Amino acid sequence: MTDVQDVKDDNAAARARSAAYGINPAWGEPDRAKARASIEPMEMYLGLQAEAPIVRDDGHVTLLRMEDILWVNKHRDVEQATKFLGSSRPAIPLGLDGPEHTKYRRLLDPVFTAKRVAPLADSVRDLANEMIDGFIADGEVDAYTDWCEPLPSTIFLRIMGLPEEDLPGFLNFKNLTLTNSAVEAVTLEQRTAMRAEAVEWIHGYFNDDLDRREKSGDPGDNMLGWLMTTEVDGHKLNREEILDILGLLIIAGLDTVAASLADFLSYFARFPEQRQTMLDNPALWPNAVEELMRYESPVTDGSRIALTDLELPCGEKIKAGTTMHISWSSANLDPAVFPNPLEVDLNRTPNKHIGFASGWHRCLGSHLARMEMVVAMQAWHDRIPNYRIKDGVELVYSGNPRAPHHFPLVW
Ligand code: HEM
Repeated sequence: MTDVQDVKDDNAAARARSAAYGINPAWGEPDRAKARASIEPMEMYLGLQAEAPIVRDDGHVTLLRMEDILWVNKHRDVEQATKFLGSSRPAIPLGLDGPEHTKYRRLLDPVFTAKRVAPLADSVRDLANEMIDGFIADGEVDAYTDWCEPLPSTIFLRIMGLPEEDLPGFLNFKNLTLTNSAVEAVTLEQRTAMRAEAVEWIHGYFNDDLDRREKSGDPGDNMLGWLMTTEVDGHKLNREEILDILGLLIIAGLDTVAASLADFLSYFARFPEQRQTMLDNPALWPNAVEELMRYESPVTDGSRIALTDLELPCGEKIKAGTTMHISWSSANLDPAVFPNPLEVDLNRTPNKHIGFASGWHRCLGSHLARMEMVVAMQAWHDRIPNYRIKDGVELVYSGNPRAPHHFPLVW
């Protein structure tokens, strides 16, 4: 356990380091935004935590500490705030709460267990290597565009049973929905229009595909085929349910692993001695992935709404109707849970990070994501053990998920 004084000491050191990034230590906006777009926003979260357990902004609050966040994530008088993702219906299961949410989690959980995803490891390894074959002789690559992004997305299309040549359409859909390229200067109207366009495209795409499968009488031995034939509450999923599940799986599955791979490669490119530790001990990859999930928190935060007046474990009161931003990034650096939270300890155990969230909406795809990340990281380092960020490039990180979308590496 670390007490408040330790947090303050950490904070003083953190502020000194942050000055190097030109970030104002007062941690108001726009400095928080500036810190979030930087390679190392971690000090900012510790700085905020040392000031207060929550941040109150206009109309919403941000929860920073692990204990409060675990409590809120399992509270029945708290509702998911990220519901529609551009559609007129809630995403399934993310946009649902209570028994409706549980119903679909019971259906989907067994499909994404560690045992069910383990056989995909060979396919991930082969694909990772094939992609590396395409650029290794060049001595450089934009690692986000040419590896981190297409790798998990292609695996996802295989799981779904969809043609790999349709990948560009899916990447465009995900980018329109998340508006999460490094350039995010879009107005609210533009954002709404982009999301509407994305939803129309994905519904059209899946409707055509599902129609074709229905007509042929062969749903296929893959995720789409399974969704067409499985039952919930004694009835087959209707078309809207299938679309609402698929839309979310695409958004949740395509960008998150891509961002995580980029964050991890960026870390090891900047810290060669840590990279050497991994080259010397490849068996450490599962542990290292957990530690970098904690330190980097590629998915930075979620949102919830308080349905009644709440008093958080820290004593802060939240009024009914308040939107709460839940900072996974901050909780994963909470000194009350993680000794030396700013140190990347590739052997860290225990490591109860919540990079995959916690409570009711805990990530459905965490086993798939973990397997992909461990296998892909191992494959990259087997083939390209020594690499660095191209000289003169300053990486800019996107919001949520956070990742450098322009990411030139050389070796
Ligand atoms: C490293 C990669 C990933 C990270 C960091 C991540 C993180 C998260 C987080 C933080 C949430 C909670 C969102 C919230 O409550 O606001 C979540 C939910 C979810 N994730 Fe992931 N995820 C990853 C990969 C995946 C993959 C590959 C899939 C595909 C199966 C997936 C499917 C989902 C779904 C369906 C939910 C909603 C769960 C629910 O509402 O019950 N995720 N994920």
